[in-house]
Amino acid sequence: MGLKQILVNQVRKPNGKLGRLIVSGMNKGHAKLAKWGISHFSIEPNYYILDIGCGGGGNIKYFAKTVTDGKIFGIDYSETAVDISMKVNKKYIEIGTVEIYQGSVSSLPFKDNYFNLVTGFETSYFWPDLIKDLQEIYRILRPNGHLILTNEGYICNNEKKRRTAENWSKLGHFPIHTPNEYREFLKEAGYSNIQIFENYEKGWITVIGMKKH
Ligand SMILES: C[S@@+](CC[C@H](N)C(=O)[O-])C[C@H]1O[C@@H](n2cnc3c(N)ncnc32)[C@H](O)[C@@H]1O
Repeated sequence: MGLKQILVNQVRKPNGKLGRLIVSGMNKGHAKLAKWGISHFSIEPNYYILDIGCGGGGNIKYFAKTVTDGKIFGIDYSETAVDISMKVNKKYIEIGTVEIYQGSVSSLPFKDNYFNLVTGFETSYFWPDLIKDLQEIYRILRPNGHLILTNEGYICNNEKKRRTAENWSKLGHFPIHTPNEYREFLKEAGYSNIQIFENYEKGWITVIGMKKH
């Protein structure tokens, strides 16, 4: 198996020693992307937030610094990712601000209408059934709650970035989408007030949807 294939398998589901290195690396490597994604939204100090596919937990830590009266949850189906996320957020877990679980986006262990905000950074490519998984997220969002998905690979107008995304998508057998496809997926899953932001230069996309009140 080639190096790129190993890498794409690891980012899909980090595992073992290499997986530990990769999730820690992603905390640094994806920080700017996540910051850009979140910059389109205003987070209140009392928010209940869930980060799905939390990887190494870097974004949970970022939220935990902002949210003083709310709570941050993380979930990832990779045991390795959950382990690193818990280490990275040890301080916040001890004071009760953060909780991290192993589990899948397809069956979230949370009650209905619970979260103000659900985020997913660089993870929705790998979800088994995007529409159903978006509906499962919708279930746990409060009325007026928001979903933010931020990805660095999509079918964009920047040809160079698009070709890179297409190559990874072929190698990893995961789909990439146009902005309009994202809009339609969110609509089909029930979301309203859908907003799409693109960073042409970087080839990044942020998709925001709201649960109707
Ligand atoms: C490319 S990494 C991104 C990690 C982190 N969000 C970041 O930006 O650094 C993708 C993560 O999504 C997780 N993931 C993929 N499919 C998932 C699923 N169906 N349910 C939960 N987590 C999933 C993987 O285990 C991995 O940690």
